[in-house]
Amino acid sequence: MSLNLLARKDLNEMLRETEGEVSGLKRALGPLNLVTLGIGAIIGTGIFVLTGPVAATAAGPAIVLSFIIAGVGCAFAGLCYAEFAALIPIAGSSYSYAYATLGELVAWIIGWALVLEYAFGAATVAVGWSGYVGSLLQDFGIPISPQLSNAPGTAMVNYHGRWRSLGSVVGLTPGALARLPRVTARFDLMALVGILAMTAILVIGIKESANVNNAVVIVKVSVLLVFIGLGILFLSGHTALHAANWHPFIPPNKGHFGQFGWSGVLRGAGIIFFAYIGFDAVSTAAQESKNPPHDMPIGILGSLVICTVLYILVAVTLTGLVPYTHLNVADPIALGVDVTGVRWGSLLVKIGAIAGLTSTMLVMLLGQSRVFFTMSHDGLLWKWASKVHPKLRTPYVSTILVGICVACLAAFLPITTLDELTSIGTLFAFTIVCAGVWVLRRQKPHLARPFRTPWVPFVPIMGILVSLAMMFSLHALTWEVFLIWLAVGLVVYFTYSVRHSKVRHAIRSAAEPEAQTAAGRDV
Ligand code: ALA
Repeated sequence: MSLNLLARKDLNEMLRETEGEVSGLKRALGPLNLVTLGIGAIIGTGIFVLTGPVAATAAGPAIVLSFIIAGVGCAFAGLCYAEFAALIPIAGSSYSYAYATLGELVAWIIGWALVLEYAFGAATVAVGWSGYVGSLLQDFGIPISPQLSNAPGTAMVNYHGRWRSLGSVVGLTPGALARLPRVTARFDLMALVGILAMTAILVIGIKESANVNNAVVIVKVSVLLVFIGLGILFLSGHTALHAANWHPFIPPNKGHFGQFGWSGVLRGAGIIFFAYIGFDAVSTAAQESKNPPHDMPIGILGSLVICTVLYILVAVTLTGLVPYTHLNVADPIALGVDVTGVRWGSLLVKIGAIAGLTSTMLVMLLGQSRVFFTMSHDGLLWKWASKVHPKLRTPYVSTILVGICVACLAAFLPITTLDELTSIGTLFAFTIVCAGVWVLRRQKPHLARPFRTPWVPFVPIMGILVSLAMMFSLHALTWEVFLIWLAVGLVVYFTYSVRHSKVRHAIRSAAEPEAQTAAGRDV
């Protein structure tokens, strides 16, 4: 068997597949729906949770710069995604783009890396969701046992009547800290429950309708706007507070890479990049878009721009309201709104965050099962992964399996580990998509492209460089897990996928008659 690792899907064939009648999907989404879909997937744990720990442990108030760097990096990648999504509007997104341009092996690697993005992403969001649910339940006098509210081994202390992780308590002497009642967490129950509930919804097939998504997006965005409004109003009367909390803007480096100083700003960008993940998910809805050549770029770039502006404003407000050293908590935006003294603010933020994170979790789990489905459909993964339930018409086997695995990840791993693995998988996909745009411009320069990434190859090269820089700012452990993950993927590829790939079969079948004709001539 020949190992044609560069076997490519035929672009024309793919374009035919995207025509509504063949795919069977309904073209119902206009540009506004696509923008809201993007915002629905983007705004989640990143802004509602990670902003706090990143400011407290990596970048300080300069997290604002981390947001700008990550946003600019995403803009380069977003421009490349827009070209592909308009040109090849197909649900497989970056996996399919790579299959058409860089060949099967790269496509496989991307698909495998997307598992990191979606599965670990869903788990990260679930942990953030659990933090806000736990906090809200505590407000209503229904506390969750501290042993069941965090990753195993996390020290939980009772501070002012509320259980929190030890790392989030600041301003106490070591002696006072040691005197606080303390237990060790076993696992995160609510994160587990959250994922299993979303899995059940996906299996039953209650599809997130565009209207439900629009409603959730309105809630999320309004909550952030209320926070920004209340914060700016408060700070305009307390300018000294903002100045004090922003001094120093970039706290000095603590002697090792990634904690304050410029290296902290860069690591902050690598971690907070998570907050932007999701704009690429718009491209997976390409087959449901009414007019992909025109609307996909609007959906991808529009949602990215809106979220970038919102994020920068939230970061400026939050670090102005709360000293960065106090922000290592599970619900930093609620903490920020508390400073303004508006009593209903915190409740509003918690409800908004829970609603927002629910939809992000759902979209991520959906994305995961879609990637498995497409890969299995192409023969690169086992057939059961694309097995559709006869009545519910959902890929129930892969959805349930993915749900159980993701629930375990969410229950047993800390948010920082989950978040970095999500980011490295996504950044890797971005790198390949940027490279793909450049390669396709050289391979097929005259292809009619409805949307052209400007300044090629400058924009793809910048997309690649910024993505790689953010990848290299992540912890060594993240890299080790990532490389092990890719190695496992390659074992699956070389033991299963190469023998079952439909593209290979098609190429072989096309080559065989030619070979027979040639052999006939030789006789
Ligand atoms: N961007 C999404 C979030 O922040 C994944 O939750």
